[in-house]
Formats: sequence, C-alpha cells, structure tokens
Amino acid sequence: MTLISPSPADLGGRTALVTGAAGGIGRACALRLAAAGAKVRAVDRDAEGLAALDEEAAGRPGSVETLLLDLTDLDAAEQAAAGTDILVNNAGLQLVRPIEDFPPDVFSTVLRVMLEAPFRLIRGALPHMYGQGWGRIVNISSVHGLRASPFKSAYVSAKHGLEGLSKTAALEGAPHGVTSNCLCPGYVRTPLVERQIADQAAAHGIPAERVVTEILLADSAVKRLVEPAEVAELAAYLCTEPASFITGASLTMDGGWTAH
Ligand SMILES: NC(=O)c1ccc[n+]([C@@H]2O[C@H](COP(=O)([O-])OP(=O)(O)OC[C@H]3O[C@@H](n4cnc5c(N)ncnc54)[C@H](O)[C@@H]3O)[C@@H](O)[C@H]2O)c1
Repeated sequence: MTLISPSPADLGGRTALVTGAAGGIGRACALRLAAAGAKVRAVDRDAEGLAALDEEAAGRPGSVETLLLDLTDLDAAEQAAAGTDILVNNAGLQLVRPIEDFPPDVFSTVLRVMLEAPFRLIRGALPHMYGQGWGRIVNISSVHGLRASPFKSAYVSAKHGLEGLSKTAALEGAPHGVTSNCLCPGYVRTPLVERQIADQAAAHGIPAERVVTEILLADSAVKRLVEPAEVAELAAYLCTEPASFITGASLTMDGGWTAH
C-alpha cells in the first residue's frame, strides 16, 4: 500500500515526544517519526520495552532517546514536554468491568494517564510551539472517543475527554501555527489486543479468527485489524506541512465502524 509519506527530510530538525512508546502504537509512532528525521523522545513506564525500542532504533534513520517516566506524575510529564515541536499523546490502559464493579481508584488512574497527563503535556509543550509559530499535537484517541461500549466506562470517558481537549487545543493553537488532532482507530494489532483475542477464544471455545471477525469486528465493515504502522503513518502525515489545515479533527481508522 502506498501512502503519502513524510520523507526523511520532512521532519529533520524537529523534536518529538511520544508517550507510551514502549509498546504497540507508540513504538510504531516513535520509529516512524524518527524515520522521517525527527529527534524522538520516547516516554514510557516500561523499562524493558524502552530498552527493546532503543535496540530496534539503533542503526535506523533518525534518533530515539528513551525516558523512563510514569505519567501519573503530572508535574514530571509537563516538564518532559518542554521544548518539543511534536507531541504524540498515546499512552493508555484499559480495564473492562461493569460500572458497579469498576474500582474507583482505577477509574481515577485511567483519567489521570489518558486525559490529565495529555493536558499537562500539551501545557508543557505549548510555550515552545507558540514561540516558534509551529507545533503538532497528535492525540491517539479511539473509536471509543466517538462511541461507547459497555464495561469500558473509564476508557470511554477518558477518550471522549481527550476529544474535547484536542479540539480546544486546536482552537487556541491555530493563531500560533499549532494543530491538534485525534486519531480514532478501531482494534489495532497490538500485544494488548492479541491477548484479548486469545482470552476470548478460550472463553468462547472458538478459533481466534472468529473472535476477530464476529466479536471484535462485529461493527467494522473491513474485517481485519488495523496495523500499528498504519496509525503511525497517519500520525507522521499530520506532522507535515501539507497537513497544516487539518486541525480540530477526529480522523477515524475504523474500517467503517462509525459509518453505521
Ligand atoms: N490497540 C487498540 O486496539 C487501540 C485502538 C484504539 C486506540 N488505542 C489507543 O492507542 C494507545 C496505545 O495503545 P496500544 O494498543 O499500543 O497499547 P499498549 O498497551 O501496547 O501500549 C500502551 C503503552 O502505554 C504505556 N503506559 C500505560 N500507562 C502508563 C503510565 N502511567 N506512564 C507511562 N506509560 C504508560 C504502557 O507501558 C504501554 O507501553 C492507547 O491510548 C489506546 O487507548 C488502541
């Protein structure tokens, strides 16, 4: 598949901060932005995953510097974002439980990592972006930023909040050359989802392919998972000059899920 891809020259001289970069989509974004020439600061609380990313990034174009940070430390998150040209808010976590059984402390943590931390990261990044009249904020939202599913109260609430934050940042940032957008993927092939597929296959006693097509992708017209690299490609595109008019948008990559 050929997409409009930022070439190595496009993001040369830019610094990018990617949260949740040790795994899945974040890792793909970090590697893609580095391949486009950006100097990437890869943030995660997973030391092992960061070390693996470090190894993988070695010898590739661009540069990746890893930073071990738990985003529940909001002051540290805000400081880490200072001086970046591109911010990818990606870190996230999920707990699937009915509301009456949902632990309040987990609800708070999900909101803290997936909504408060992005607010603080944006807050930390804006002075430099505004100062130079250029910045790109890419928020990895989800179909669940636009639609609800049962048993995912914290995740759906956080993603809907992130959608509002992103649009507000877009309105405030426009006069300063800063864009802010959400990417809204359906199910992406990451370790998190692979585990869900295996669990559901065991629970329902059906093959993994049927879990994907009949359960996860019941509302998706395209019956396959999105690849992390596809999400990273769109994130990288949003950082280019031709994308400067795209702001305040929620770009779905959901195989037609929200077309219903
Ligand atoms: N996988 C999907 O199907 C899917 C679909 C739509 C949206 N998303 C979103 O994409 C993003 C990435 O998801 P993924 O599937 O790659 O998941 P993942 O679990 O592979 O990666 C998430 C990363 O966030 C990090 N993280 C979690 N809490 C953190 C904290 N407190 N401090 C620092 N880092 C922390 C984790 O260590 C992990 O490396 C999430 O925001 C998720 O909601 C995923």
